[in-house]
Amino acid sequence: MDLQQIFNNNHEWVKEKLKINPDYFQDLSKTQNPKLLYIGCSDSRVTAEELMGAKPGEVFILRNIANLVPNTDLCSNALINYAVSHLKVEHVVVCGHYNCGGVKAAMQSADLGILNPWLRNIRDVYRLHRVELNAIKDEEEKYKRLVELNVQEQCINVIKTADVQKAYRDRNITVHGWVFDIYSGKIIDLEINFTKILNDIMEIYRLS
Ligand code: CO
Repeated sequence: MDLQQIFNNNHEWVKEKLKINPDYFQDLSKTQNPKLLYIGCSDSRVTAEELMGAKPGEVFILRNIANLVPNTDLCSNALINYAVSHLKVEHVVVCGHYNCGGVKAAMQSADLGILNPWLRNIRDVYRLHRVELNAIKDEEEKYKRLVELNVQEQCINVIKTADVQKAYRDRNITVHGWVFDIYSGKIIDLEINFTKILNDIMEIYRLS
């Protein structure tokens, strides 16, 4: 993408917004009140706002390689803290996508340098669900299922945080697992049973 084109596009975008509402940017600058925290993949083909039809101010967003929430990752943990305990979002979504390069890389035997510790989180998901995944003979289907199971496990990592546990207790926050189907453009709700997962893991992960 031409960099000058970006500035031209931006100029047009500002014009469009001001045509609809001359105070658009004054209003936007005042505060943010997003109801949704979205954790997705950085993949350039998988946007966040565009595929959801979300406007500025509506969604708080984290994107990284393969939509991970590692237990010791300062970035995702700080972001969850801010979004849940300060902005008080009502929903947390972890959204993976089929044909995810990060998930594919984690399924292969290769030394990828600094990517190793990051992708190891996905190998951990594979190990946890090895019996189910090894029973899938079709490689493409196995890869899709790992994408889904990775979303589920990252949802569990979200639930492990004190912020989400407290928000569930105090105001019924919910965590959702979605997959963006890059072959059709549709968002699939994995219908993760948040309450059941929460009850299952709280024996071990309860913080308060
Ligand atoms: Co990806």
